[in-house]
Amino acid sequence: MSGPKLNITDSRTGRSYELDITHSTVPAIGLRQIREDPEEFGMLSYDPGYTNTASCTSRITYIDGGKGILRYRGYPIEQLAKQCSYTEVAHLLLNGDLPTQSELDAWDTEIMEHSMVHENIKKFMDGFLHDAHPMGVLVSTVAAMSTFYPDAKDIASKRNRSRQQIRLIGKMPTIAAYAYRKSQGHPYADPNWDLGYAENFIHMLWTGTRRQPKPAQSAVLAKALDTLFVLHADHEQNCSTSTMRQVGSSHADPYVSLSAAAAALYGPLHGGASEAVLSMLDEIGSLDKIPEFIKQVKAGERRLMGFGHRVYKNYDPRARIISRIADEVFEVTGRNPKIDLAKELERIALEDDYFVKRRLYPNVDFYSGIIYQAMGFAPEMFTVLFAIGRTVGWLAHWEEMMSDPELRISRPRQLYLGPGERTLVPIDQRLEEAQEKVS
Ligand code: ACO
Repeated sequence: MSGPKLNITDSRTGRSYELDITHSTVPAIGLRQIREDPEEFGMLSYDPGYTNTASCTSRITYIDGGKGILRYRGYPIEQLAKQCSYTEVAHLLLNGDLPTQSELDAWDTEIMEHSMVHENIKKFMDGFLHDAHPMGVLVSTVAAMSTFYPDAKDIASKRNRSRQQIRLIGKMPTIAAYAYRKSQGHPYADPNWDLGYAENFIHMLWTGTRRQPKPAQSAVLAKALDTLFVLHADHEQNCSTSTMRQVGSSHADPYVSLSAAAAALYGPLHGGASEAVLSMLDEIGSLDKIPEFIKQVKAGERRLMGFGHRVYKNYDPRARIISRIADEVFEVTGRNPKIDLAKELERIALEDDYFVKRRLYPNVDFYSGIIYQAMGFAPEMFTVLFAIGRTVGWLAHWEEMMSDPELRISRPRQLYLGPGERTLVPIDQRLEEAQEKVS
């Protein structure tokens, strides 16, 4: 085949090989032909944490981490965050294009009509302890939904896949709100279909409680939440989305796949970072303690949570937008004093050689928790809010994968470095054998 080639010479054998280059990638399977001995399995690429491996092709989200660019289906995140609602962006991510007004109206109606959950889901959620972490509740409840919708197993049907996608987008805020209300000891509030997506979420969270925001305040909070959902909607092959693809590649249904993705998000190195940022700020406590904290980070004893990213080696564009949203939210909620601590941490870090050399900048989670706290959310809810937004990204990637002719079950290789074949020693002789080894 003509076209660009990568030429490789194996210094062990002197033999040369050619690999086809397509879109600046080479097929890893092409390495398999490289062998020192014909009996060998063949060469593998080694890439812990997948730092330089493309696991799929995708047409959903583009990131240029060096330049700090993020686009969904070609549209810059800054334009989407400013001009589009979350459900509009959901339509874009799942269907490839922004909806017309009539398409959006129909799409919103369909989503909202699926916001109600089965009564037994409420009973299922009742079984958790009052202080259960809401992310644990969310992960388990979404997995349990697989048993409520056995039709979801028909993953070959596009129509059926779309039905499950709408259900999940519709029900995630309801489950999230119920996890929250349960933690507060409040009865669950039914969704209100007449409200917008984020407005309804606010309604389900706080209606009938002392936190219920006034209408003017509620509109600002709903707009801010909606924009935060847009910012979190997708981020290409991150840990949780790759998990969605990995689990879905075995043809598991979308509920258990999405539950696994949410579990991956829960970790403090991923979506759990926003909660961890708040604990970190609480621990630092005051501006004068920052230098000592930074010293610990530079000594490798701590991580500056909310900083650094596998892909961004520049300012995360989402963090810039979030810092603008913070000002809008504080106008109606009052200022969260932690913002001053965070801004000073950022200022000091961005001037420090340790962070500059490693190109560590604030990521999306550095400021999001401070806004969520000002809105009245406990830190345990932060990752749940992230999960609501990311649901559409997980589903868009699942959909893309399910219709990809290259789909194969995800099954990485390993580099085995353990012992060679050993002869089993019967149990009554193992102590003796161990003692012989020591002497
Ligand atoms: N604080 C201090 N040092 C850091 C940080 C940090 N937050 N992040 C990376 N570094 C350092 C590492 O110690 C390493 O230094 P070294 O080269 O001297 O060993 C170097 O920067 C590279 O870091 P890696 O851990 O190799 O980078 P990786 O791409 O594997 O990890 C990650 C990315 C997990 C996001 C990391 O930056 C981190 O732990 N950040 C804090 C947690 C966080 O905010 N996560 C949210 C990410 S955004 C999201 O998932 C939605």
